[in-house]
Amino acid sequence: MSSSVIVGTQWGDEGKGKVIDIMAAQAEVVVRSSGGNNAGHTVVHGDEVYKLQLLPSGIFYPDTLCLLGSGVVINPQGLLGEINGMKERGITCDNLRIDARADVIMPWHLKLDRLSEDFKAKQTGVNVGTTGKGIGPCYADKADRIGLRIYDLCHPELLKTKIMQTGELKNLVIEKVYGGEPCDLDAVYEEYKAYGEQLKQYMADASVITFDAYKAGKKILFEGAQATLLDIDFGTYPFVTSSHPIAGGACVGTGVGPKLIDEVIGVAKSYTTRVGNGPFPTELFDELGDLIRERGHEFGTVTGRPRRCGWFDAVIMRHAVRTNGLTSLAINKFDTLAGIEKLKVCVAYKTADGHEIKDFPVTLEELDKCQPVYEEIDGFDGDLSGCRKFEELPEKCQKYVLRLEELCGCHIGILGVGPARDQVIFR
Ligand code: IMP
Repeated sequence: MSSSVIVGTQWGDEGKGKVIDIMAAQAEVVVRSSGGNNAGHTVVHGDEVYKLQLLPSGIFYPDTLCLLGSGVVINPQGLLGEINGMKERGITCDNLRIDARADVIMPWHLKLDRLSEDFKAKQTGVNVGTTGKGIGPCYADKADRIGLRIYDLCHPELLKTKIMQTGELKNLVIEKVYGGEPCDLDAVYEEYKAYGEQLKQYMADASVITFDAYKAGKKILFEGAQATLLDIDFGTYPFVTSSHPIAGGACVGTGVGPKLIDEVIGVAKSYTTRVGNGPFPTELFDELGDLIRERGHEFGTVTGRPRRCGWFDAVIMRHAVRTNGLTSLAINKFDTLAGIEKLKVCVAYKTADGHEIKDFPVTLEELDKCQPVYEEIDGFDGDLSGCRKFEELPEKCQKYVLRLEELCGCHIGILGVGPARDQVIFR
């Protein structure tokens, strides 16, 4: 029996999808436990390209159970769109199960996401830069204990009562606080009742399924979404998402204890990127940043937004090693850096009073006052895409990898050298 958690170690988009795809092919259960359709990854299966936002990556394998745990927030229209798109391409999705406790994204969450972002932008000039998918408002209602869950969605009487109660309150906020257009609650009920009818067949208890699978010796893969620095507690708050993408979130968002987790693989890129607003100490504002963006195709899968690009930051990586309890790292996109003469790696931060710190600061106020301390490393040349063994990499690239490993304090077990699933080196 074995179970693995895959987490992002930076600000997302580290290429978790690729590592997950490789592992999903061997897994018997694949679980998503946090986030919603703010996540997005591209999967190449056979000759076909699929863009998944909510469906777990094991969906292509009919014998692999695919679970959406209680910690996931579900946009039913988005999910049904994905399911129907899959069915049209011959993937039945009969292996999907959705935890009855998972919260549902309602139309007022989408409105409130936009209204709150606009308000913040007007008030302070800066908003979070959310994906606009209603994620924050949905998790807020969950914490406020007024959310609608998948169970409610699949029980029309309950659904009606809850839509009328919560909807009335939400409409008051939309109208009286923000001056926005209220939701037509009768129309919302009709629309969501229909979603419930279609999703009912997938409703289950993901906690029980996962626990039983583990006891039966099955291989379980917890598929992370977002990343460590977007975690609501351990990320760059308030420029974060509203869930727990760190490894502990896999337990909370599935309903299993930490002893069920055997390994935690942290995924990173050989440089750093971020979408949305918020601090990014090693961000590059020059042509080198543009070069990395173009070469690495750094544009968002969900929103198409250009990603901000910068150097590898070992301070945030050590933060990720600690907060996730990483057992190994998978670092992607070494090929993107080929041809850059001198590479820089951030090894520490210098505070305003000149001290060097090795740990990621607790608050943005402290982080704002920090400057990255760089170490310069010789760059490497050549086409890495055909390398399948560590020894086949250019010597300078090997040195770069070994230095990153040393600075992160964690074994690098997987190296990405190209976009395709087989363009990896296992070490
Ligand atoms: P939200 O999750 O839509 O509320 O967005 C909050 C922040 O998290 C924003 O900066 C988003 O750009 C970022 N974010 C959310 N999901 C992802 C993701 O899958 N990859 C990268 N950034 C994300």
